[in-house]
Amino acid sequence: MNLQKFERYPLTFGPTPIEHLPRMTEALGGKVEIYAKRDDCNSGLAMGGNKLRKLEYIVPDAIASNADTLVSIGGVQSNHTRMVAAVAAKLGMKCRLVQESWVPHEDAVYDRVGNILMTRLMGADSRLVDEGFDIGIRQSWEDAMQDVRDAGGKPYGIPAGASVHKFGGLGYVGFAEEVRAQEAEMGIKFDYIVVCVVTGSTQAGMIVGFAADDRADRVIGIDASATPVQTREQVREIVDNTAELVELGRTVRDDEIVILEDYAYPAYGVPSAETNDAIRFAAQTEAMITDPVYEGKSMQGMMDLVKKGYFPEGSKVLYAHLGGAPALNGYSYTYRNG
Ligand SMILES: Cc1ncc(COP(=O)(O)O)c(C=O)c1O
Repeated sequence: MNLQKFERYPLTFGPTPIEHLPRMTEALGGKVEIYAKRDDCNSGLAMGGNKLRKLEYIVPDAIASNADTLVSIGGVQSNHTRMVAAVAAKLGMKCRLVQESWVPHEDAVYDRVGNILMTRLMGADSRLVDEGFDIGIRQSWEDAMQDVRDAGGKPYGIPAGASVHKFGGLGYVGFAEEVRAQEAEMGIKFDYIVVCVVTGSTQAGMIVGFAADDRADRVIGIDASATPVQTREQVREIVDNTAELVELGRTVRDDEIVILEDYAYPAYGVPSAETNDAIRFAAQTEAMITDPVYEGKSMQGMMDLVKKGYFPEGSKVLYAHLGGAPALNGYSYTYRNG
């Protein structure tokens, strides 16, 4: 496997910490050791998160294209668009964002706090568009690129979640390499990695990265899209593209792509009672803050799997914390009493 041949523009602090979560381990029965890899603490850029690992491999291509404007898309409380706005500010580029109504929301200030607040502060031209949830390529995004061209600018397009970009999967191949190095230092080996999946390139990169030591099927994707057929197709496509790029040397089998669909209900961006319980649980056992759109659902999934005995006794489970806490501000009514 060859990731080193790709240029990487550093946006993160470096390897993210892995921490043992003893109170969570104990509260979930003590038979499975829980650890977290804190990609939510990976950078000083606007509170960081998983998109920066992906963008580290995309930025060199953006710079080489001589673009002056990064163009991207997400929901109103998108973490991804916050990260694109951050990268544009850091590089001294302009940023044009399409923020669609992916989530039916209750909070009066949903479109003024958290991610979108920071996005606006960083100077991005963020425009709200009234379209529903879809992880694919959108007309509104193509239109935004055209707007930039019409105004004499040179756009560089980054799709939702930086996923179906040709280099979108590389960052999380790097995650797998980083985990292997940390395992060697720590003298342990993780039996499972739990990760939230929506647009797909985070899990897809991990699958390719962990296929190199034949444990791709130990990457347990917890779907939070509630459109799992499309998410799975997108993961498959990114796995194939990324495996070819890094010269994995074999095709990843379908049964090595594990995505569990049971926790995304009732809809993308809408937490169930069980999601909210999981968010409170992580906060109250480990002061680890998760959000109602993504990590709360993967936390709910991991807790349920531990309780159901999915992981054999003695397993070491690594929860990939991908960020996302700023969106909590858009749910202040839901958590008004904790
Ligand atoms: C905090 C957080 N967790 C998980 C995900 C899911 O990652 P991906 O879209 O690469 O599947 C995202 C982005 O969509 C995210 O912002």
